[in-house]
Amino acid sequence: MAAVLRHLTVLCALCLSNRSSAQFLDVSTRQTNSSSVSSIPERSWQTWGPYRPNLYFGVRPQVPETLLMGLMWASGDSQKQMLSSFRDTCEQNDGMQGYGWTFYDTRTGGSQALHDKQLQLDLTTDFLKSEDGGSWSVGITGTPQQDAPNVRTSVILHVAVEKADSNGPKSLACESHSESESKGGPLAACRGEIAALGGRFEFQVLGNAKNNVVHDAAVKSLNVSEDKIWQAKSVFADQVKASSGDKIAVENSPGAGNMHFIQLTFQGPFKMTFVYHAADGSILDQNSVDAGINSLRSSFPARVEAVFPRTPPFQQENYAKLSQEILSNLLGGLGFFHGDTKVDYSNSSKYQEIDLDFWTQAASAMSRAPITTTAPQTLLSHTPSRPFFPRGFLWDEGFHLLPVVEWDLDLAVSVLQSWLDLMDDDGWIGREQILGPEARSRVPSQFQVQYPHYANPPTLSLLVPIIISKLAGASPYTGHPSIYMSSPDQASTMLKTIYPLLARHYHWFRRTQSDNFTSAYPRPASGIPYVGFRWRGRTPKHTLTSGLDDYPRANPPHPGELHVDALAWVGASASALQQVALYLGEAVDAEVYAKDVTAVKRNLDALHWDAARKAYCDSTIQDDKYTLVCHEGYISLFPLLLGLMDADHPNLPAVLDMISDPEKLWSPHGLRSLSKQDANYGRDENYWRGAVWINLNVLAVLRLRDVGLSLVGLSTVRARVLMIASELRKRLVGTVAESWEHTGFFWEQYADGTGEGKGSRAFTGWTAAVILLMGLQLGQGMGGEGDDSGASNGVFWAVVGVVGLMLATLVVSTALRRRAMVVVAGAVNSWITWQTTWKGGGGYREVIDLDERAV
Ligand SMILES: *[C@@H]1O[C@H](CO)[C@@H](O)[C@H](O)[C@H]1NC(C)=O
Ligand SMILES: *[C@@H]1O[C@H](CO)[C@@H](O)[C@H](O)[C@H]1NC(C)=O
Ligand SMILES: *[C@@H]1O[C@H](CO)[C@@H](O)[C@H](O)[C@H]1NC(C)=O
Ligand SMILES: *[C@@H]1O[C@H](CO)[C@@H](O)[C@H](O)[C@H]1NC(C)=O
Repeated sequence: MAAVLRHLTVLCALCLSNRSSAQFLDVSTRQTNSSSVSSIPERSWQTWGPYRPNLYFGVRPQVPETLLMGLMWASGDSQKQMLSSFRDTCEQNDGMQGYGWTFYDTRTGGSQALHDKQLQLDLTTDFLKSEDGGSWSVGITGTPQQDAPNVRTSVILHVAVEKADSNGPKSLACESHSESESKGGPLAACRGEIAALGGRFEFQVLGNAKNNVVHDAAVKSLNVSEDKIWQAKSVFADQVKASSGDKIAVENSPGAGNMHFIQLTFQGPFKMTFVYHAADGSILDQNSVDAGINSLRSSFPARVEAVFPRTPPFQQENYAKLSQEILSNLLGGLGFFHGDTKVDYSNSSKYQEIDLDFWTQAASAMSRAPITTTAPQTLLSHTPSRPFFPRGFLWDEGFHLLPVVEWDLDLAVSVLQSWLDLMDDDGWIGREQILGPEARSRVPSQFQVQYPHYANPPTLSLLVPIIISKLAGASPYTGHPSIYMSSPDQASTMLKTIYPLLARHYHWFRRTQSDNFTSAYPRPASGIPYVGFRWRGRTPKHTLTSGLDDYPRANPPHPGELHVDALAWVGASASALQQVALYLGEAVDAEVYAKDVTAVKRNLDALHWDAARKAYCDSTIQDDKYTLVCHEGYISLFPLLLGLMDADHPNLPAVLDMISDPEKLWSPHGLRSLSKQDANYGRDENYWRGAVWINLNVLAVLRLRDVGLSLVGLSTVRARVLMIASELRKRLVGTVAESWEHTGFFWEQYADGTGEGKGSRAFTGWTAAVILLMGLQLGQGMGGEGDDSGASNGVFWAVVGVVGLMLATLVVSTALRRRAMVVVAGAVNSWITWQTTWKGGGGYREVIDLDERAV
């Protein structure tokens, strides 16, 4: 239920108003700037892939309106059983015990395992593609589960041609061959032509001599309307129902059409291969797929290890597996989307949100506003979760790309460019990309509309400085060979393309989420005017646009309020732009952005620092006075999280106190989203009100590390910061790992009390950012950076460090000491614990408990 909140565009309590009164216009007269910045070359390694992550297995090219392929399976016992057990789209509760990629690389392919408990079958899909983009194949293997050696399974491959009547000639025709006549040859073969795919192509379905076949391959070729193209399950179910008697196989009627089903039914184990190739492409037959997958299986672990090395205490094999799986599923969640979208372009004056009851006025204006259906747009994006959020979210993508850029810089750039391509002339990017009817089918209609005055955290600015630092050689890159890393010209061309777009989005954000710095509202005298921001789209209980949905803010909302996280995001964006400008030699621009960063830093303190509470807080207007509204939690950390607090910042110790206080943010499983002491902790929807979210926790560890390492010498602050980072890192990785071992899934969030996965499962979006923590060297920080942690060496430095820290803490204030000791106690124990095996004896829990007791 909580998860649904992610796509509440306007909170429903207010928008229950009936949309039927709204007019739906046809195609927008206002289109986004269509000058494309994407540079996907025709036919490359990127062309084909399992870019339909909403399906258990579905392939399409990154070319709109061409070909869609998918895999379905069902019980082959009876027609009735079949009709009630089709697996096609990923679902939350369909009896699947777990599924996902065991290894997967966007460049070559990989292997997915699916455990279908209800149908007593384990499936693997081995996907492999050629580097030139001309061919790909998928091997599908079914293995009955233990108690059901003779289980009957029907496998249905579906292929469809999109928009068969537009963009040049498109055709596809299939034929079937009975087992006896095929003699090891294809059981079905289809030939087609699509100009955008380079012309003619062919694919075949191959069986295996060992298969125990229940019936010959049945090929059903159809012409369906465009709105059925992506609804394979229901189209096929209709065909099954239409067949006479209680047959499980559809009528074999191959031919020409825009949608084709190839059905095979097996008893017991089976193996089959789907082979696609362009007329001029090579053929990846079953042997090539097996060889390719085997070679990938053996090389993948070492590659992951090289890019995401692991340091103590995460050196055991289970962490290697976790790294491989979480990365594979982040990459395997990459989707290619194309279609129109719903936008409210009315720009009602109520959307300025100026009056005291602005949210009711806005909701009322929205209920009357005409909704525009835009021209089709295209997006290449990773997805938060295949079953629940199989589409692009701006707030998530910046976090997705943090591991991706390490693994494959060029892929990260392609995705970044695709997102920037969505920007309109004003600089707006819709925060949730629900493109086309297939994506819309998963979102209730009242939440589909996007609003051009709504912002979202500009998380892509997290990525840009990392790209710059790699291009400049300031940080290492060990991922796939990159055209940008190897060619400075390509790199600057790319940066010159994205720079104006990033700038446009930045200025749009400043303009549309601006504070009202007129004399209407009082502001602290020390604040710089016009450097304060307010998320539009607030309601009393929600600020969905901030990404932190139900995180408590001023209540009631006020048109004069200011949001600390919005200001921090402006600072992060300005800093990213400054770095691009410097790289491109735009000195004047760089200076302007540097000034913006300085101003943001100053106003974080001038407008948002509550000296009494010792916390960064939102503000509102109460009794005509500027009043800080403090709900300690993630928003209080944004100045730190977004790199806007230096090591010598006078407020840093207080921020560290809040982080490390078990009564506030410090939990056994990571930093709580909301302080345990806040009145709203754990209340109502309880989405961002206590649970541990991995994305912001990972940022916390990385920033603490940066702050710690920026301090030279054995200072107490350095020791403390690195100790917190080190302990937090262990808890986060441990929490994700433990839950994954128990449930087989990665989760959207984790309970701060128990570490239990919560929200949407199979959430391999930003939860995957945890992989960045595996190799951090923090515990040994006091012994000097270069420390290569051979175990004994690590323990030695650990002990030196802990002793040093204990001595150091004797000289600091009482409050600080109490907290530091808690951390020290935990750390000593973990250093002992990491010597024992991860599963043996539950040492991890003991460490956690010790901390809780120390309170
Ligand atoms: C689209 O954006 C580019 C900058 O990326 C700009 O040069 C061009 O004028 C814009 N086109 C339109 C039609 O506004
Ligand atoms: C589908 O339409 C095409 C073109 O009109 C036609 O040649 C073909 O026979 C049709 N296929 C079926 C199964 O109706
Ligand atoms: C919306 O209206 C405001 C106020 O009239 C105007 O300043 C702004 O430019 C408009 N925005 C768009 C995107 O047209
Ligand atoms: C600022 O607030 C005042 C008082 O509500 C309002 O009249 C004015 O239009 C607002 N200005 C801006 C730029 O929002």
